[in-house]
Parts: sequence; structure tokens; C-alpha cells
Amino acid sequence: MKKLPMKLNPNLRLALAGVALTAGAATLSAASIGTRITIEVAEPGHAVSPLLHGLFFEDINYAADGGLYAELVQNRSFEHAESLYAWSLVNRGGEGGLDVPTAGAINAKNPHYLRLDIAKPGKGFGIANSGFGGIAVKQGENYLISVRARGKLAEGGQLRAVLEDETGRPIGESVLWGVLGGEKLAKLEDYKKQNNLVSISPNGVISDWKKLEGIIKSSATATHARLVVLATAAGRVDLDVVSLFPEHTFKDRRNGLRADLAQLLADMKPSFLRFPGGCIVEGMDLANRYQWKDSIGDIAERPQNRNRWQDAIRGQTAPQYYQTYGLGFFEYFQLCEDLGCEPMPILNCGMACQFQSKQLVPLDQLEPFVQDALDLVEFANGDVTTTWGAKRAAMGHPAPFNLKMLGIGNEQWGEQYFERYPIFYKALKAKYPDIRLITGAGPGVDGPELDRFKLAWDKFKSGTPADVVDEHYYRPPQWFLENATRYDAQNRYGPKIFAGEFAAHDRGKRNTLRAAISEAAFMTGLVRNSDAVAMSSYAPLFAKAGAVQWAPDLIWFDNTHAYGSPSYYVQALFTKNRPDVALPTVVESADSVPASGAPAAPSPAADEKAKPAPAPKPLPALYAVAGRDSTAGDLIITVVNPFAEVREADVALRGVARVTPDVRAIVLTSASADDENTFDAPRKVAPRETTFKIAGTTFTHAFPANSLTILRLKVRD
Ligand code: AHR
Repeated sequence: MKKLPMKLNPNLRLALAGVALTAGAATLSAASIGTRITIEVAEPGHAVSPLLHGLFFEDINYAADGGLYAELVQNRSFEHAESLYAWSLVNRGGEGGLDVPTAGAINAKNPHYLRLDIAKPGKGFGIANSGFGGIAVKQGENYLISVRARGKLAEGGQLRAVLEDETGRPIGESVLWGVLGGEKLAKLEDYKKQNNLVSISPNGVISDWKKLEGIIKSSATATHARLVVLATAAGRVDLDVVSLFPEHTFKDRRNGLRADLAQLLADMKPSFLRFPGGCIVEGMDLANRYQWKDSIGDIAERPQNRNRWQDAIRGQTAPQYYQTYGLGFFEYFQLCEDLGCEPMPILNCGMACQFQSKQLVPLDQLEPFVQDALDLVEFANGDVTTTWGAKRAAMGHPAPFNLKMLGIGNEQWGEQYFERYPIFYKALKAKYPDIRLITGAGPGVDGPELDRFKLAWDKFKSGTPADVVDEHYYRPPQWFLENATRYDAQNRYGPKIFAGEFAAHDRGKRNTLRAAISEAAFMTGLVRNSDAVAMSSYAPLFAKAGAVQWAPDLIWFDNTHAYGSPSYYVQALFTKNRPDVALPTVVESADSVPASGAPAAPSPAADEKAKPAPAPKPLPALYAVAGRDSTAGDLIITVVNPFAEVREADVALRGVARVTPDVRAIVLTSASADDENTFDAPRKVAPRETTFKIAGTTFTHAFPANSLTILRLKVRD
């Protein structure tokens, strides 16, 4: 088999010099200078990957249903195992019954529906949905209600959709179906106007499933409203796919996304969006895996699936957590387009979670899985005359989505993966030679995962083809500080690296400033080595307060509010201040790092308590990387001080005659490394911008304790 030739980072000489000196080997002449950051402005290095900073989305912690997907009704199709979960009977003095039959279902993918048998309506007989822990509505906003219905109602009867606040007070309604006779029928147009939107059925019968739609304007703001659907006459009403959306979603798309959450993503200006995971790709078993074809077309045709995070690996289990696939692959591609970023789907490779069922598709039965991958490329990019391109066009997007990359498997490992993955690689490259494939390297890179990781790299080094290798690390902050040089010695002739899932796990898995700053320190190494590291993404992206299977997370939300964690701001700052050309940058220090200055090591997680603590590695006095933003004409200097005291450094810009005196400094820090953002103080840890003046090409700057600082200035070559 062909072996990989070697090429290392051309800047490595300088970078390693910095590390050696910071370990205490050097003496600097100026006594006042503890630390010097030297930037070779006239020696442009490698181009920084334009895809270096992206996002990872997985439906974990209620990220999709109950989160980014703006649907307000939970269990809208009665497909939960507990089929009336989130629903309750509403009986205002009537008599009747309620059932969840399957015979005569709307389609085979959506086999359950609700049947109301109304003997006497009283003042109304029906059901109410409490949403995902309450339905949040705003005064003056419109909400789009739709139901699939059929049945028979007596003359004069109506099917009404009513929003009620927490006290039961109606705050908006729409009549979905009215049964008219006699005089009223003659005044049909007046009746329609008076009743907002209405589907008229003169004889009181809707014989086959029909979509009824209306608009409810909310007259009040409420955080725990509920949606009541009730009949006001005797009869029988079958209901399915009961849906309520805010009219205003991100970019005002139908079947759309929560505007505030999507805006937080847009504000980061990500370069790509990985989707749909994560372990959810694999499923607890093969039946539970994410199948992209289930996630397109009419929402009534998308089967519901148990969310893999019902059985959290760690943290809170969530037995009522399901995937409606309402935020499916079409909505995902559209979101990428709206965010101006590249899509990066990850697909199942014929393997279920290797920590759980370990189910495998036999090699001779892998063809449908490979076909799914090929079909996804056609769905994204195919001409409208192709089978899957036509489906995309039918959903409203005839133009291609320009998919350029695809992941084969998530955190798969071992020989079983390397028997399956090449089959996908061969088929995809044969049909779509330009598509960039992402290959798994297992769930971790060291510790107990080391053997799996090494096996993957042995494969790549000995002939298994790979464009981009996906590496994952969820490790303590200290690990990130010690691993900022991780890719300095990466072979530049080998596959590119995708740091596809990472997050610093601090004490109590909290989203502290300490964790965020250690990620920032690590990310200076990603930028410095971005001729080898093509992409990176923090994980997971979202967490709904009170419904968390995995922490820490980038963005926290409830039904009405959302905020970014300190790590969110680190990701956003790196993304928005990504240079396009790296410049050789060396940090030198006369002092080695005093033990008291190092960030407090987190106490080991319960599952790691038995292991002896490894000896800490020497750390640099500061972490720094620099580069140029050719579009803005700026020099960007990124400096991370993860220590508990202010650190001053001389910044020397070599090979440049003059600089403009004005420097923009964007700083992320806070009073304590333990600080976090919360719903009450969502921007306690957030970037602040200042400016200062410099007099020449060497200047001294103080970098606050526990900080990430971005300096932007203009040089005159
Ligand atoms: O990000 C949470 C989980 O971590 C992902 O689903 C999985 O890929 C990894 O183990």
C-alpha cells in the first residue's frame, strides 16, 4: 500500500522556538520585558482555511423540536409512545369521548390520529396542547394554525382554534371549519370575514383528510399559553398534524426556524454547518438512525422517530424526546443558504452507536445506505429533472444547494468502520469526484480512545483514502492549554484535519470563562496550523434550560430567551477575526509559568477519579497567533491569557516600516474565570471593544487575566 510522504508546518521552526523559550530556556535582554510577541509581517505564511470556523448542529438538549424548529405544538401528530403526551381533554359542559385510532390514518408514516366523538358539545368539546413546557406568544403577533381534519359536525357547529393564557383567558382565535345552513350560507362572505379564515362545509361533512388553516392574532403576551382545538356542535372530528407556528420566523420562512435562535447563529457568521450530528446519525440501533429521506416533503409525510437522546449517555434522560424531522434536510440546506455557509451533512455508514447496540449492516447489504448517500447529493445538487432534484424543486428550491462535502459515519472506529467506509468512498468519488468526504477517527484522540484513534491514523498512513479526518475532544481546560501545539507537527501531505467536535469540560460541566479561554488558547493552534486543519466546530450547539442531556453547550435558551455562553463569544470572535493569511508569530518569555499562575485544574469527573493525575506540561506565557485580513487590510493579532494575572507583553511587528497609530482591541474577559452567562445576566461575559494608540512597530500591551484579546490595526508596507 502507498504510504504518505511527510511535510510539516513551514512555520514550525519559529513556533517551536517560542515553546522552548517559554519553558524557561531563554534570557531576554530588556529587564522590563517579561514576554515578547514577534510577528513577521513581511513573511506571509500559509493561507488560512476559509472554512476554519463552523458550527455543529445536533438535535440534543431539545435543539430542534422545542428549540430551533419554531413549531409550538408538541406531539402534533400523536405519534409519541404515550400518544396523548402534551395533550389534555377540554370539556366545557359537554359529553363525548376521545380516542387515538390507527385505522384510516392519514398515511402509513403517520399512523395515529385523534378522534373526538361529540355527543353534546356544551360550550365546547376538544383538546388542548401545552407545547414544549408552555406556548410562548407575544401581543400583536400572528400565529399560523393548521390541522389535518375530517369528520361531521351538526349545522351551526364550528371547529375553533383558541389560544388561552395561563389563566384560561382566550387571547386569540381562528375558526377552522364552520357548518352553515339557511340564512348564514347566503351571507357566506360576511361570515368568512367575521370569523377570520374559515373552511365552509355546508352539509357538515369533510369526508377525507383536509388541511384547514387559519391565523390567530394574539391579544396578549404569555409564556405558558396553550392551544385549544374544540368543536361546538355534536358530531365526530378526526384531527392530525395539529401545528402552530409564529408567522415571524427566521427569514419568515414557512415551516421555519425560531428567529432569535437562528439569528444567534447568523451573528457568528459561520463558514459551515454540520448536521444532523453527532450520535443521532448513528442511532441507538439501526432502526433508530437518522434517515435523511424521512426528513423531506410534506410534514404530514415525515415519520416521527424516537430521539436518540431519550437515553442520555450521561445526564438527564428524556423519555418524551422525539424527532418530528420538521427541521429536516430541506430546511437545513435552506438554513445554510440563509446563513451564507457551506452545508456538511454527516450520514450513517451502516453502523449504529458502538457504545450501545453496536448493530452493523452486513457488507453485502450496505448498498441501500450507499444509495442514500448518493441520493442526498442528488437531492442537494441534482438537476430538477433528476428524481431527487425534482423533490427539492417541489419543495420550493429548484436551484441546487451546492453541496461540496459529506461525512461518512460519526464517531465510528475499528476494523468494522474501515471495512464499510471505503465502500462509500469509492461509490461517492466515482459519481461525484469533487465531493470532499469526511472520515471518522473515533470518539477521542487520547486516553482510553487512543488505540481506536491510532488505528484510524494507521489506516490513513497506509493507503486508506481520506480527504478530511474528523477528530473529537471533550477534555478539561488544562488539556486544551497543553494541546495548542497539537497540530504543529501534523503532516501537511496527509488528509486535512476537521476538529469536528470539541469543548472544554470544566468542573461541573459548566460554561465558564475558564473553559472558553482554554478553547481560545487551543484555537490559536488551529489558526497557526490551518494549512493542515481545514475546519473546526464546537459541540454541542444548543441546550434548552431544564432539558439538558449534555453540557456544556454553545447557546442556551428557553421558550422566550436565549444567550451565548462565553464559548459562543470565543467562536464568534475567531470566526469574525479569521485572517486569510497566517504570519509567523513567536511568543518568547524569560519566565516559565509559575504554578500559581496556571488555571486551577478542574477536579476529575466521577468516571476519571481512579486515574492518577498526569504531570502538567509547561505552558507558554501567552498564546498568540497573527495574520492578515486582506479584504479589510488589517493585521489581526489574537492573544490569549489563560492565567489568573494580567500579563504584559511587548508586541514587535517585524518587516514593516509603519503602522497606523489606532488599534482596535476586542477583549473577552470577566472578573473571575468561574464566571458564566445566565438568563439574568446574558452578557456578563461578552466582548468589549476599546481603542488605543501606538507610536511605532513595537508596543507594549497588557493582556487581562483570563482573556482573549483581538487586536486589529493597519500596517503600511
Ligand atoms: O456532542 C455530543 C456528542 O458527543 C455527539 O453526539 C457525539 O458525536 C459525541 O460523542
